[in-house]
Amino acid sequence: MPLRGGPYGEAATSRWISSLLPDHPRALERWYKKEGVSSPFGLLASRIGYDCAGAVQFCRPDRLSELSDRSSGLTPLTSEDMAERVNAMAEDPAQWDSDDLESCYSLAGFQNKMALHRTPIGWARPHGSAPTTHILKPRHRDGGQAAVVEHLCAATARRVGLDAVVTDVEFHGGHPVTVVQRYDRHRPDGPWRRRHQEDMCQALGLDGRRRHEWDGGPGMGVIGDFMHRHCLDPDTDVRKFADGLLWALITVNRDAHARNYSLLLLGREVHMAPLYDLQSSLPYGVKHLGEREMAMRYGSTYSLYSASSNHSLADVAARLSLPTIWLIDRAEELAHATHEAMRAEIEGLSAEARGLLDVDGLLERLNIRAKAIASTVEANRARIHRRGGGPASDDAASPDEGLDAAGARVMFDESHSGTELLLPESDEDEASA
Ligand SMILES: Nc1ncnc2c1ncn2[C@@H]1O[C@H](COP(=O)(O)OP(=O)(O)OP(=O)(O)O)[C@@H](O)[C@H]1O
Ligand SMILES: [Mg+2]
Repeated sequence: MPLRGGPYGEAATSRWISSLLPDHPRALERWYKKEGVSSPFGLLASRIGYDCAGAVQFCRPDRLSELSDRSSGLTPLTSEDMAERVNAMAEDPAQWDSDDLESCYSLAGFQNKMALHRTPIGWARPHGSAPTTHILKPRHRDGGQAAVVEHLCAATARRVGLDAVVTDVEFHGGHPVTVVQRYDRHRPDGPWRRRHQEDMCQALGLDGRRRHEWDGGPGMGVIGDFMHRHCLDPDTDVRKFADGLLWALITVNRDAHARNYSLLLLGREVHMAPLYDLQSSLPYGVKHLGEREMAMRYGSTYSLYSASSNHSLADVAARLSLPTIWLIDRAEELAHATHEAMRAEIEGLSAEARGLLDVDGLLERLNIRAKAIASTVEANRARIHRRGGGPASDDAASPDEGLDAAGARVMFDESHSGTELLLPESDEDEASA
């Protein structure tokens, strides 16, 4: 929460605390029932609060010794244990952790996930003060393709130079699982330590249920402004945030809402956390997305069409108080590098993981998407040139200016196995749309 002189009241504290718990209503209901409590704080006072996002830990006063016991240990999980847990989670999205065990972690989000500790010989459940080190997300829909796609998006982002989480894909009980290394745990020398983090709704003191801008959540301007004011090195961190926004455009990550960006608090220093929860709609097409295509507004609307228009890069730069020319160059660099980087990451997948993907379809759509961004970049450059003042004069572009017709937009190609392509568009198409 934003630092201030006095204590926070109940409403603000509850908003912050609730954001530490899962967002899946049935999963939450199940946890309430299992622990026999009825409030978020009551839930965190059970052992669920022992391991949360960031450095906070919760426990009842009579259990304090459990948390202060630094020798508290790890229970190894066999491959059968893992298969059983993943099978149960794959069958039921409301299944988080095991029903028959006392849950000792909490994480936000809609996807069911478990937090475990990785040891040199395999996975383990931590107890007491021992932290979890990884987040495991089994994916049930689309035959598990989403588990591979989340890993691919993060690995590709890293390959093109973005600061994104370290991920992998594992199979347990035949189900693919995205394995995500926690950036809020580290082991500088000796024991594991927790690093504090807050997602952007928590940091801004907002209700975490309102995460999408179209639902009242914060947009890129609000987040960028907050980062300019609080980050130790705002220029670096706001550019990292811009990278996330551009990455969402290139890979069509419709879920890049405010809670999918976090801040790390290291002592009194505030830094942007690595990019995480990187999804992509490219494997599925983007048909019938309607108005709420993107989680944040790029320019005047949420639609990918406007998001890809040449106006939007100037708009994004203006909202983030970044030089327009930097954003244009960065968009070009990323769009240019992404296709080859993803191809390389796909080649590095196990045959089992690769077998879940429509590799050609994914790469084809990514290529078309990259071309669309490249054409947007060109149009932006031409626009700056037309204005005649060079890059600097475009920096103050008004977010409310109209769209330029030479952008790129989403086209639906019904002939392509019912899957839409994301195509650069000519002025003629614009006129007839
Ligand atoms: N690598 C990580 N290290 C530390 N914390 C993380 C990491 N990845 C995710 N988190 C935390 O866990 C929360 C939930 O993770 P994530 O966003 O991956 O879940 P999700 O269920 O896919 O989310 P959504 O509801 O957006 O679909 C995040 O908001 C963040 O606080
Ligand atoms: Mg998320």
